[in-house]
Amino acid sequence: MKICMIGTGYVGLVSGACFADLGNTVLCVDKDKEKITLLNQNQIPIFEPGLQEMVSKNFSSGRIKFTNNLKMAVKNSDIIFICVGTPTSKKSHSANLNYVFQAAKEISKFINKFKIIVTKSTVPITTGDKIEKIIAKKKRKKLFEVVSNPEFLREGEAIRDFRFPDRIIVGSNNKRVTKRLETLYEPLIKKGAKFFSTNRRGAELIKYASNAFLATKISYINEISNLCEKTGVNVEDVSIGIGLDQRIGSRFLRAGPAYGGSCFPKDTKAIAVTADSF
Ligand SMILES: NC(=O)c1ccc[n+]([C@@H]2O[C@H](COP(=O)([O-])OP(=O)(O)OC[C@H]3O[C@@H](n4cnc5c(N)ncnc54)[C@H](O)[C@@H]3O)[C@@H](O)[C@H]2O)c1
Repeated sequence: MKICMIGTGYVGLVSGACFADLGNTVLCVDKDKEKITLLNQNQIPIFEPGLQEMVSKNFSSGRIKFTNNLKMAVKNSDIIFICVGTPTSKKSHSANLNYVFQAAKEISKFINKFKIIVTKSTVPITTGDKIEKIIAKKKRKKLFEVVSNPEFLREGEAIRDFRFPDRIIVGSNNKRVTKRLETLYEPLIKKGAKFFSTNRRGAELIKYASNAFLATKISYINEISNLCEKTGVNVEDVSIGIGLDQRIGSRFLRAGPAYGGSCFPKDTKAIAVTADSF
């Protein structure tokens, strides 16, 4: 399939390289000229095990290309993934959607035939509805479909997570488009990945609900750890003891200095804002 990734950061670059490796033709776009120049010189701006080799291989075979030219990339693709950042907003704890909406506006100018526009960025419920409205200002509704396909990869394990995911979540209000996405992911599904489809808002919420749940597990064991310290109990024994219950599971139950990383702090804040606003 002909694919375009808007935003060649962590998610766009890793998933673009992996889609190319599965045999698709991928155009990776970024507005950051320096990043695109580096990538065209076979230099990878992030460290991720296996990424350099995968990009080099697919770049030499012409399956992946890097460009600043969004117009050319949109026109020559059937499926367009939005992979831009959604950092915490400066004014509130909500997700800043400016990059997403800007990308949607730019895409809308260059839609020349039917396109599937997929949000891979982590976005709050109803963002897909808003993207649809932005594009509908410029193009007839028959020319595009907006889908949610959140990404669950972890930095440092990103290629493995993409190739062997626990699940692939697709949220669409159109069955034919869901089928196209299922076909795109078929090589991973054949290797055991579970494909789960729901409506667009459902997929948007699944991403936040997953991250918030994992963050909750970490916070919970830290609270239990405080009690352990006061009572002379080894919290590691408690983690093992409760983690052996299959309903609970042992992962994300290690007491430590709380959670960090690029996603949990921003996504837990954003889901709280979303819940308040509804
Ligand atoms: N990093 C992770 O581990 C991870 C995992 C799962 C989901 N996510 C989510 O994926 C999204 C992207 O995260 P990331 O870490 O890849 O971000 P990133 O900051 O590494 O990359 C975003 C890229 O988008 C580019 N960009 C912004 N606007 C653009 C536009 N209009 N046209 C072209 N390029 C544009 C930026 O220049 C940047 O290179 C976020 O919503 C994040 O929450 C991230």
